Amino acid sequence: MPPPLDRRDFLKAAGLIAATPLLDACGDSGLAEAPTLPPPLPVPGPAPAPSPAPMVDPVFPAPGQEPPSFDFPLVLALPFAHGVASGDPLSDRVIVWTRITEITPSAQSIPVAWQVSTSPTMTPVVKAGSQSTSAARDWTVKVDVTGLMPATTYYYRFTALGQQSITGRTRTAPAATVDNIRFAVVACSSYWSSTWSGYDHIADRNDLDLVLHCGDYIYDFIDEDEFVRSRKNSRDLGFVDNRDWLDIAELRRRYALFRSDAALMRAHQQHPWFIVWDNHDIDTGYGNELPTPQDGMQSTTTLAQTTQVFWEWTPSRPPLADGSGRFLLVDDGSYPTPPDSQLLYRRLPYGPLAEFFGVDTQIGLPGYGLTLDASHLPANTPSLYGRPQFEWFTGSMVAAEQAGVRWKIVNNQTWFAPADTPDVIAGFPSVPKLNISRWSSYSGERTALCQALRGSNPASLRVRGAVFVSGDSHGNFGSDVIETTQLLSSYVPGAVARSTRNGSTATNTGAGSVRVTTGNTPVVNNRALSVGVEFAPSSLGRGGADELVSRAMIDGSTTPAMPGTSSQEASVMATRGVEAAVINGNKNVQFIEWVDHGYGIVDLKPERAIFEYWWQDKLTVDSPDVLGMQMVSFAADNPTAVPMPRYRDQLDYVLTHGMTVAATTGTRMSEPAPLTEMVLPR
Ligand SMILES: [Fe+2]
Repeated sequence: MPPPLDRRDFLKAAGLIAATPLLDACGDSGLAEAPTLPPPLPVPGPAPAPSPAPMVDPVFPAPGQEPPSFDFPLVLALPFAHGVASGDPLSDRVIVWTRITEITPSAQSIPVAWQVSTSPTMTPVVKAGSQSTSAARDWTVKVDVTGLMPATTYYYRFTALGQQSITGRTRTAPAATVDNIRFAVVACSSYWSSTWSGYDHIADRNDLDLVLHCGDYIYDFIDEDEFVRSRKNSRDLGFVDNRDWLDIAELRRRYALFRSDAALMRAHQQHPWFIVWDNHDIDTGYGNELPTPQDGMQSTTTLAQTTQVFWEWTPSRPPLADGSGRFLLVDDGSYPTPPDSQLLYRRLPYGPLAEFFGVDTQIGLPGYGLTLDASHLPANTPSLYGRPQFEWFTGSMVAAEQAGVRWKIVNNQTWFAPADTPDVIAGFPSVPKLNISRWSSYSGERTALCQALRGSNPASLRVRGAVFVSGDSHGNFGSDVIETTQLLSSYVPGAVARSTRNGSTATNTGAGSVRVTTGNTPVVNNRALSVGVEFAPSSLGRGGADELVSRAMIDGSTTPAMPGTSSQEASVMATRGVEAAVINGNKNVQFIEWVDHGYGIVDLKPERAIFEYWWQDKLTVDSPDVLGMQMVSFAADNPTAVPMPRYRDQLDYVLTHGMTVAATTGTRMSEPAPLTEMVLPR
């Protein structure tokens, strides 16, 4: 079977991307202008009859033919307008997801059949069943498909109302030793702030076991400087798709909008995901983040509702209500309704090579009104995890170490290792010294976590191979994990240099600062305090601190520079200064770049982990994938390695160890799920 076209190839073949939409700063639609065509040659004879208007199916309209008032742009035909998704794989089961969308619901309950196959042709079918959906779960369908083989690629699809969904591809977790696990990392993906080329590049890959999303999978509101694209009425911050949701219906509509993006739909179609929430996903109060023109409007949305809708719209398997972190395992094909929708933390074992931990550092913040048990910490020390999650996390990390699991991957919302912003920012009154990560307000618990990994746990066992994969701060960040930047002689880092690599745009040259020596010798491991590494590959588009800081350093304004302007060049230059100040002021930081946006790739092998920062110009549709930086962490000490000693639980630039910056390439050639020709650019 010939390889299916990827989205770009298909669109080029169809002549649909002659024009590229850029910044939708003042238009009312996010659509490209029609390309200008040359005048037709004169044709002798009678004029051709005008082509008839396309027939619109009133029940299942084709893409582009949805009613004007419809909730989201129709990229796939109804009723499977949001495609398919899968997630939370275990070695014998995986969640598969779809949603039934009709112009007007045709029944109170709609039966949906599902099939699973080992072939993209869906022959033979190895598992099948059915489930009914209704308005109570926003017409979503979630099936925990059981009885699968480990480390195996499967394909799946759904049928309802006489129609068939697109086919999805997924993959189960390994149960035994494998040579390689590779996954993508995404965070902070605002529909309005990026064209999401990164999602397209993720979808095009055939070598991923999993896609991690670290939170802010959806956004509650649009910033005034985030007008990259919009559903419509992009300048109207009161429009229902541009403002914070006021009730559960508007929240569900927001998921429907985000998930109508063709690139995101393809990324879900081709890979299983492991998603955690952050503040923008579960926001309950209107205007609680930044001032907006609609301050004062009241939201009726509750935390129970925002967390419920997360479980409705993500292909995630809910944990039990007892706080054990164990999954609710539904074996009969029925919908896995969360016993407690506010519980998020859970883990995915991937055999001896890796285990994934999804944590929650959001819901315990004071604004949500929950009182977390902090009795595991000294008196009056605030907790971000709460005791049950803290004990689950540290206990599970120790158990994984005892079981010989090499890499422990933490799907984590916010930068964990210290990265205090430099005092230089304090000189600009419009931008106070930024509190980059919420962990700076929970340093007591961060210390307790580091100490637990270092051996202060019931098993007195040092946990090795901890990898915090983080989002939230919208900057590219790589670090050793220590609890404080104030460590002096006991922690000695390497030398800092400006990166020689460039970003995704012409203005982003010498992108970031990186340490080019290890700070270690064959005799002395000067970074032995590190209990792991942290990898934060920026945001999939959303700006924030980076743009505010750089702009404020230029003229004190809080308005970010417009792309393509000389101010933007000055902004990049100013950001270079911030990056240098952060890495020089924080001994644990190994790499920082605060201009570009995209996603990350982590490539795990028994002897080492590779971390790649992939960038795309967020203003350009189909922006090329640029490998901005590649870092490495080793699984064993080798003090006599040349050109530099190698010690585990430390993050280093690959060139420091004489390795070339070679992009990961495909290692698993399972066929992609076929791309339907119904997918249109919108
Ligand atoms: Fe974010």
